[in-house]
Amino acid sequence: MARDRRDYYYHQAKEEGYRSRASFKLKQINEKHKIIKRGDSVVDLGAAPGGWLQVAKELSGGKVLGVDLQRIDPIEGVETIHGDINAESTITKIIQAVGTKGADVVLCDAAPNLSGNWSYDHARSIELATSALECAKKILKPNGNFVVKVFQGDMFDDYLKEVRENFVRTAAYSPKASRSQSAEIYVIGKKYLTAPLRKGNEFVVDIEKLGSSGDGAILIEGFVVFVKEVEVGEKVRICITDVKPNFAFAEVEERLGKFEKSE
Ligand SMILES: C[S@@+](CC[C@H](N)C(=O)[O-])C[C@H]1O[C@@H](n2cnc3c(N)ncnc32)[C@H](O)[C@@H]1O
Repeated sequence: MARDRRDYYYHQAKEEGYRSRASFKLKQINEKHKIIKRGDSVVDLGAAPGGWLQVAKELSGGKVLGVDLQRIDPIEGVETIHGDINAESTITKIIQAVGTKGADVVLCDAAPNLSGNWSYDHARSIELATSALECAKKILKPNGNFVVKVFQGDMFDDYLKEVRENFVRTAAYSPKASRSQSAEIYVIGKKYLTAPLRKGNEFVVDIEKLGSSGDGAILIEGFVVFVKEVEVGEKVRICITDVKPNFAFAEVEERLGKFEKSE
């Protein structure tokens, strides 16, 4: 069954003019999770031979940049960088190519050469996925999207947690076009958070006013935080419970009495 499916996507790629069967994985990821939309700028890390670049260009029609250790044969309207995504010098080149506006989407289908040693291959995959996340954090626009391939193993949950801290929504997804016996899974991060706060952060704050919903409304580093069940005049220790692109929610951890109003 797995072999039939593999052959199916292999032949389908040949028939439709895609450079790799992996093209169908990106198509299926995009159908399910709506990662790339018309006009988006897309950076694809670990992009050779270029199947994802072809699909990204079709979907966005915008600026598309591919990066790989291998040379990528030219694709019309697609820029490429030859380099190692674990190297600072490659990240600098990517930042320069993307420009100050940033990218709407960062993709990474990079895979280490498999050694056959499961935990070694898993660790190398996590290293690549971590470089991809670091790169995404440097170049994504606020609300941008991220997709990265990871080989599953004991470090997977910690990696997922790290992605979760940086995006409004996170999912792990295995497209049909992935081989059924493969350990690969795609981590999806939607809506990159540029807020100066993260879930679990604690602050001591003075409640000076309430928002229209009746929650306390405070500013932390210019970012609005709504605090449930407080009154004007209270000093409280709060914990951030949810971060949205433009505001966050918090709950009271400890009530510290009334605050002194400065004249
Ligand atoms: C599965 S292929 C990508 C296939 C591609 N998505 C496509 O549709 O054609 C994985 C790629 O990751 C690249 N790669 C692995 N480690 C890398 C690294 N450290 N820096 C850049 N590319 C890397 C490999 O050279 C390989 O071309």
